[in-house]
Amino acid sequence: MKIEFSENFKLFKPFLFEELYRKERAERAKGKDIISLAVGDPDIPTARGIVDCAVSEVRKGLNHRYPNTKGNENLRGEISAWHKRRHGLSFHPTDEVSILIGSKEGIAHLPFVVMNPGDYCLIPDPTYPTYRTGVVLSGGRMHDVPLEEKNDFLPDLGKIPRKITAKTKLFFLNYPNNPTGAGATPAFYKDLVKWARKNEVILAQDAAYCDIYFGKPAPSILEVPGARDVAVEFYSASKTYCMAGWRIGWVVGNSKLVCALNQLKENIDSGPFNAVQNAVAYALKHHETIVPPIREIFRKRSDEFCGSLESTGWKLKRPGGGCFIWARPPVNRTSLEAVYFMLEKAHILAAPGSGFGKFGEGFVRFSITEPEAKLKETLRRLKALNWSQR
Ligand SMILES: Cc1ncc(COP(=O)(O)O)c(C=O)c1O
Repeated sequence: MKIEFSENFKLFKPFLFEELYRKERAERAKGKDIISLAVGDPDIPTARGIVDCAVSEVRKGLNHRYPNTKGNENLRGEISAWHKRRHGLSFHPTDEVSILIGSKEGIAHLPFVVMNPGDYCLIPDPTYPTYRTGVVLSGGRMHDVPLEEKNDFLPDLGKIPRKITAKTKLFFLNYPNNPTGAGATPAFYKDLVKWARKNEVILAQDAAYCDIYFGKPAPSILEVPGARDVAVEFYSASKTYCMAGWRIGWVVGNSKLVCALNQLKENIDSGPFNAVQNAVAYALKHHETIVPPIREIFRKRSDEFCGSLESTGWKLKRPGGGCFIWARPPVNRTSLEAVYFMLEKAHILAAPGSGFGKFGEGFVRFSITEPEAKLKETLRRLKALNWSQR
């Protein structure tokens, strides 16, 4: 039988990082000692206390049964308590909190509950690619909103065309930002919420890197009075607690949206393994002891990496947080040319900025989620790299 894929599915290219993984494997197969800084996958092991908690939870037979899609009461309660401590915000654990199988999953599903064919979703450019997934599958349209260095990588709301805004249902944002490393200020969030309320646009702010900040703690969009009328915020245990492989995150905010997303998910999946949920509840309870050392590791790596790149002619704006360095190479090359050149001559794999969108062209993204020795070796190789060789 001839297998015909759906028209919407045909619009998908392989996920950006999958292509990079494939490239890396091919180079390794040729015997090259590749250092891959293309993806943000924390090397730091999950804290001992979290692992011990998970191990004892795995032994409990009750946890072997189906988990509730929304998440168990223990975890939703700890999430509410954490947001109160961290942002001074109270969320109703039943109506305003829902657990996700990684924040990526919730991000991909949200457009299904709000977008009709032809509705617009605003996508930051450069972007985390998953913001496009659910929009494509729900038949929505996308309008890319530039994040430019001259605006500190914040969107210029005044430049979004009125005729697009009139048809816009959803706006994905992400601060601290991947890939640029930029942070959002409370003043920006205030303007954004005002704009969204006026234009009746739902805001989906992705806070996956909210606790990897290098200056002031990253604010929540939901701290803005009235934000809960228009916004949800996505959280992830992947970076904050170095639990990327455990696949768990959560969404908080507007109860109608949180409940609708949960209702959709009830028809698709069940919640993450209860042992994992209870391990994250432990992590949240002990957040103030677990997270500062992780943050300090990333801050130190970021400082060293940026300093070294700057000294070899790279141009960059130092990140306010996150796990990435977003920089322009010392020569005038496209992102892809620069990435392939580094791969061939220095055996370093970074992510081409153009893979994140048109406004990423000219940039390269390095992830600092590898051990210090590898990062130092990367910097040594980059220092020795002669960009004028052929
Ligand atoms: C901006 C951003 N949002 C969300 C995610 C997904 O995180 P999770 O592991 O919670 O699915 C990532 C992962 O790299 C990310 O960079």
